Amino acid sequence: MKLPDVRDFDLKGKTVLLRTDYDVPLEKTQKLKNSKTQRWEVADETRIEDSVETIKLLLLREAKVIILAHLGRPGGEFVPELSLEPVTEILTSLLRKKVPLVQLQDLSKLPPKEVVVLENLRFDSREEEKKETPRRAFAKELTKLGDFYVNNAFASSHRKHASIVDLPRLLPHAAGLDLLEEVTFLSSVKEKPKRPVVVILGGVKKSKLETVSGLLSWVDLILIGGKLAEYPEAKKLKDHRRAMEILTKSGDDITIESAEKFVDRVRQAGTIIWTGPLGKVEDPRFEKGTKIFAEAMMESKAFTIIGGGDIEAVLTRFKMVDKIDYVSSGGGAMVAFLAKSDLPGLKALRGKN
Ligand code: 3PG
Repeated sequence: MKLPDVRDFDLKGKTVLLRTDYDVPLEKTQKLKNSKTQRWEVADETRIEDSVETIKLLLLREAKVIILAHLGRPGGEFVPELSLEPVTEILTSLLRKKVPLVQLQDLSKLPPKEVVVLENLRFDSREEEKKETPRRAFAKELTKLGDFYVNNAFASSHRKHASIVDLPRLLPHAAGLDLLEEVTFLSSVKEKPKRPVVVILGGVKKSKLETVSGLLSWVDLILIGGKLAEYPEAKKLKDHRRAMEILTKSGDDITIESAEKFVDRVRQAGTIIWTGPLGKVEDPRFEKGTKIFAEAMMESKAFTIIGGGDIEAVLTRFKMVDKIDYVSSGGGAMVAFLAKSDLPGLKALRGKN
């Protein structure tokens, strides 16, 4: 797939709207002695670190950068704990320059800085609006801030959101370095996979189930675990190459028997592609199923791929992430791309509907 490449444009003196993936896991800090206040901190910085190469490239080309991103699912409301403030702190330290946060209602008061971050786009309901007119109106407001758009948010490119599909239709545009790398690598996996290919879908995000039929057109086996296995939509997906697992009574993890059955099914795999944890791993009491499966994956001779912030964070905690052959930033986006070889955000960058 040929996408416009950010390296091919003269961006000197331009202000670039850069869409990044900053949907990072957060954790509450310990309360300080004698203080009632608690803050949220970034629990895994990988997605922020990944974005730095494209930001530095833009600065080197003498462009100003306004970063657009979302965090979590605030549903169009201001939710203080989903502010991008903790992200700007990490960026400030990675770029060694102060990166201020700008509120959506203060767009006319942008500080004259080289890099700023706009507050969580999903605090404005128009970002995710299904109807095109209000969504496009939000994108139009954003275009007033800059004159070029770069999408470096592979993990969000399966969403038909203003900052993903409308901005590239309104501004000259290109793909960022991480997005280009993801598309090139995942296309090559699909073209020449080492078989058998086993996909494991876990986590809670229902939209992953929509990828099953597309995946079954070329993969050999799909295992469904985590909360996903509980949805009625998952139970309706009948195919001899699809297996689903059982959760424990509390519903917080898969059973040990299920985890072992999963392990058995991947033993002969040539490629293992895994997105979404198999239990509620943010609580270590429910990480057993995911750990058993992760250990088996480490021991297998298969080419291993994981995708999405949650699974990456848990394998980092298990000190296993370095042993994975390829880590994609996208969970839902990775499986959607592997199912259809395209995404709404990529189509928009190619000028297609
Ligand atoms: C992700 O982390 O997968 C992306 O940020 C997309 O998040 P969403 O499923 O809330 O759209």
